[in-house]
Amino acid sequence: MIEFKDAGFRGEFYRLLEARKSIRKYQPKPVPREAIERILAAGMHAPSGKNRQNWRFFVLTGKKRDEYLKLSQKAWLGIKDVLEKRLKPSLYRFTERFFFTLGDAPVVILCYSLNDAEERYHTSIGSVYMAVENMNLAALVEGLGCCTMGAPLEVRDEVDRFVGADRLPEYQDGALELLCGLVLGYPDHEPPKAPRQNEGRVRWLE
Ligand SMILES: Cc1cc2nc3c(=O)[nH]c(=O)nc-3n(C[C@H](O)[C@H](O)[C@H](O)COP(=O)(O)O)c2cc1C
Repeated sequence: MIEFKDAGFRGEFYRLLEARKSIRKYQPKPVPREAIERILAAGMHAPSGKNRQNWRFFVLTGKKRDEYLKLSQKAWLGIKDVLEKRLKPSLYRFTERFFFTLGDAPVVILCYSLNDAEERYHTSIGSVYMAVENMNLAALVEGLGCCTMGAPLEVRDEVDRFVGADRLPEYQDGALELLCGLVLGYPDHEPPKAPRQNEGRVRWLE
């Protein structure tokens, strides 16, 4: 068992968790491939049900990332009415810009779950999200920002075709499912920390 004797490490770890925020505006600066690989490796350190490591990632950079913007813009059409009711006008416009440009993020990662009969559905999904959170944190350690997005689900079938997932036998068997996207890049804004409302979230039983 690894021991973390250094109290400084513990403090830094909690500081890392608190510092993580969704970043929606990025510098137009490429992310080194090695940094992306370390972030993916961090994701794949996550626990998974029956250790099936059922995450599957499609990494979009360069031209493919640029082409993806069309799908992100289409996803906005599916979401905008709900957001218009929920968000202040300034935040609504900011979010619209994010969907149209992805905040200029140079990297998009589409995260899939391979749901096979050997594992419960929700366990498979949860395993992939554990990897996604590891990746959010690793991005921060790399000096990068990250935003997890459910938005790609609005145009799920098109995303599946765009990344070529639909040509894989596991997809044709109905086992490969898109869960979310991540954008990555060097942050170009410092959003305030979204407040946490911890009241009523935890019940202790004795
Ligand atoms: C599963 C999931 C889906 C999300 N989808 C979107 C999205 O489509 N677009 C977006 O701008 N943010 C998205 N977010 C980011 C949340 O809005 C954000 O995590 C939340 O407001 C809390 O802010 P924070 O991440 O800065 O702490 C998503 C987050 C999660 C975990």
